[in-house]
Amino acid sequence: MMSQKMQDALNAQINAEWYSAYLYLAMNSYFTSVNLVGMATWMRVQTQEEMFHGSKMYDFVNERGGRAILHAIDQPPASWDSPLAVFENALAHEEKVTSLINDLVDLSMKERDHATTIFLQWFVTEQVEEEANASGIVCKLKMIGQDASSLFALDQELGQRVFTLPAPQAA
Ligand code: FEO
Repeated sequence: MMSQKMQDALNAQINAEWYSAYLYLAMNSYFTSVNLVGMATWMRVQTQEEMFHGSKMYDFVNERGGRAILHAIDQPPASWDSPLAVFENALAHEEKVTSLINDLVDLSMKERDHATTIFLQWFVTEQVEEEANASGIVCKLKMIGQDASSLFALDQELGQRVFTLPAPQAA
């Protein structure tokens, strides 16, 4: 059984993960509206990843004898100035999520909640990949600048992304 404080913090993170899903779905809509279908696909897969993150944390709270509480999800932005602005937003968002996960780990250690500390290690590792993905695309978009043919090549590349459910032992 986890403490109320730990439970409240995990419930706040469930909300943050579902907000992430909402944010990336809004980015999917933006890319669809400007006919960058590959980037739209990439964002749709990212949405699925965030829904998985939120669900994973939701299940853990309930498994530990806590009560997962679903809070209202904030409205994400609806438009951006450019593809680069979208991915810069995504990177800044992932850096913020990493900081939230780190705060959760700190709290679990302070509470001597070892099960939660171990559970959160998956998210710590996942955040390394989340930041690297967004950061890599930001770098490419900066190199591309205003070159339309390179932008469409990157769009095609990003459209190859597919959602795969993590293996049970890793999930
Ligand atoms: Fe759930 Fe993108 O971190």
